[in-house]
Amino acid sequence: MSTEVALFEESFISPQVQAALPEGYTVRPLRENDYERGFLKVLEVLTEVGTQTKEQWLERFNYFKQHNHEYFTIAICDDRQNKVVAAGTIFVERKFVHNNGLVGHIEDIAVDGNQQGKKLGLRIIETLKYIGAKKGCYKVILDCSAKNIPFYEKCGFTQKEYEMAWYVPATKAHL
Ligand code: ACO
Repeated sequence: MSTEVALFEESFISPQVQAALPEGYTVRPLRENDYERGFLKVLEVLTEVGTQTKEQWLERFNYFKQHNHEYFTIAICDDRQNKVVAAGTIFVERKFVHNNGLVGHIEDIAVDGNQQGKKLGLRIIETLKYIGAKKGCYKVILDCSAKNIPFYEKCGFTQKEYEMAWYVPATKAHL
């Protein structure tokens, strides 16, 4: 058993998903030292990540930990290389509708470029769905590009609605 600080309790990780992973891979809550294991590098397949120092990483990690009834970030680790190779987050939103219902938002799904096509993305989504169900969410939703629709359909999602976005202008003219 690791003594490293983890974001949330191990009991939120599906044993079925762990058993389905290729040998030598582990799915688990994000850990404090995943900074050194290349967690941020994995996110670079998604978008610009930035150049956070360990201190800045810990600031965000500790915020998530203090709110670990809402933020669940997971990692798949290649244990032989001691590297993070895939990651994802589910954020649990509290609502008034649906009798004070809970909605799970899946965010920032990323699989290292050299590790794609091994069903690690699928295992990340299965793990996050398990967490959403265990927390009592009545639905789990996400936004994705058109090219990823077939992937999410294979993960059990169906297309609904449209995403709208407003990017806050760099100038303060709107304030
Ligand atoms: N188009 C069609 N089918 C796909 C695609 C695709 N783009 N990607 C995966 N699949 C299929 C696979 O062929 C496989 O099908 P099978 O079960 O019939 O063999 C199934 O989906 C599962 O695929 P995985 O091997 O689990 O996919 P992978 O590990 O490569 O992860 C992912 C997919 C997450 C999209 C990965 O390629 C990636 O990180 N891409 C770059 C970042 C990205 O786009 N992330 C998602 C952003 S959306 C969000 O974060 C909510």
